[in-house]
Amino acid sequence: MARVLLLLPTRTYRAHDFMEAARRLGVEVVVGSERRQVFAPLFPGGHLRLDFLRPRQAVRSIATFARSYPLDAIVAVDDEGTLLAAAAAKALGLPHNPVAAVAATRNKHCLRRKVAAAGLLSPQFERLSVEDDPARAAARMPFPCVLKPLHLAASRGVMRADDAEQFVVAFERLVTLLRTPNVVQRGGRLARHILVEAFIPGAEVALEGLLVDGELIVLAVFDKPDPLDGPFFEETLYVTPSRLPADVQADLAAQTAKAVAAIGLREGPVHAEWRVNGHGAWLIEIAARSIGGLCSRALRFGAGVSLEDLILMHASGAAVETCERERAAAGVMMLPIPRRGVLRAVNGQEAARRVPGIVGLAITIALGQEVVPLPEGVQYLGFLFARGDTPKGVEFALRRAHQCLSFAIECHRAE
Ligand SMILES: Nc1ncnc2c1ncn2[C@@H]1O[C@H](COP(=O)(O)OP(=O)(O)OP(=O)(O)O)[C@@H](O)[C@H]1O
Ligand SMILES: [Mg+2]
Repeated sequence: MARVLLLLPTRTYRAHDFMEAARRLGVEVVVGSERRQVFAPLFPGGHLRLDFLRPRQAVRSIATFARSYPLDAIVAVDDEGTLLAAAAAKALGLPHNPVAAVAATRNKHCLRRKVAAAGLLSPQFERLSVEDDPARAAARMPFPCVLKPLHLAASRGVMRADDAEQFVVAFERLVTLLRTPNVVQRGGRLARHILVEAFIPGAEVALEGLLVDGELIVLAVFDKPDPLDGPFFEETLYVTPSRLPADVQADLAAQTAKAVAAIGLREGPVHAEWRVNGHGAWLIEIAARSIGGLCSRALRFGAGVSLEDLILMHASGAAVETCERERAAAGVMMLPIPRRGVLRAVNGQEAARRVPGIVGLAITIALGQEVVPLPEGVQYLGFLFARGDTPKGVEFALRRAHQCLSFAIECHRAE
């Protein structure tokens, strides 16, 4: 039986699905997490407490553990564990992504430089310091532009500015976010910078892939049919298969392979986001992990194989034979947080579930919990899932089900 160390950040959506996959495959899981208690009820197996922010120390703990309990693979379920997974796999002599390649995917400025140097379509970009004077910087910015943190995810802190005035407001808002203790602690020196990019118009798509010995296998291409034009970029709909023409999708695959090679990634999942317009495909981002949140539940391969199954199979050295996605169209809607406050009720769940084509609804925030929308927030209220004959039908079902839902959010008195 293969033994896999699963790196689970404290706040992850992915624990359950990876654990289920391990159970199905008969893979023994050792959980590496920052806190002992968090996953205890889910994981009766081994546990290793690791400080993800001190990778050297964490690698030593993993190596010591592996001397008594040899590991076959180290899998990070989310962005936060990818660097540690690569460094620990290197120390243990397991197949892995080069640490520098993973580091590039964790720093949006570094990623932009690598991608531009490789000759991929690239927007004008510039890294600013949080100490810079935004009014002076605004004078040389390409409007419209997008301001973003170097290290955060889930569109957190990402804002569009159309002119100097909006730029200054967005810059100051982002600096405030980058100075919050948790963001500073997680980001280290990366939290001292802001990346500004020219806004790339166009349709957005996400490509889900698996790298096997440097070769890219395309697992799915998702359309994001809601326009993502800002000022904030909350993600909602993901629908696959993509409705883009076959030649455009083939180009996306080729460009992703080129980007992956330029960055140096070689093994495991990749999640790439692209904008497509008349000039071609522009990379927004590429990460050495699988799709976030619970979105992977929209994907099934062969006879009911999950994305987590594929990732664990590949990581533990098994041949990955069934990478072909099922025939049906499928989609997920990430339910955005409409305003700040305390979640008191989620109404209309039964009606949403009854919408033809809807196959699942997961509300992932407990009642009574504070919710914070983008650009400062990081969570979603939940996820709706649909399947159908066509992407259009799936999109329709997700929109109808979303309309059935209403969220009672009690605003703070000061607001
Ligand atoms: N240069 C750009 N032009 C147009 N839109 C952009 C640009 N950069 C980012 N965006 C929009 O903002 C979103 C988030 O940006 P980005 O992917 O860089 O940040 P993120 O925080 O990693 O998001 P996530 O992890 O959810 O993918 C993108 O999906 C896209 O819709
Ligand atoms: Mg992104």
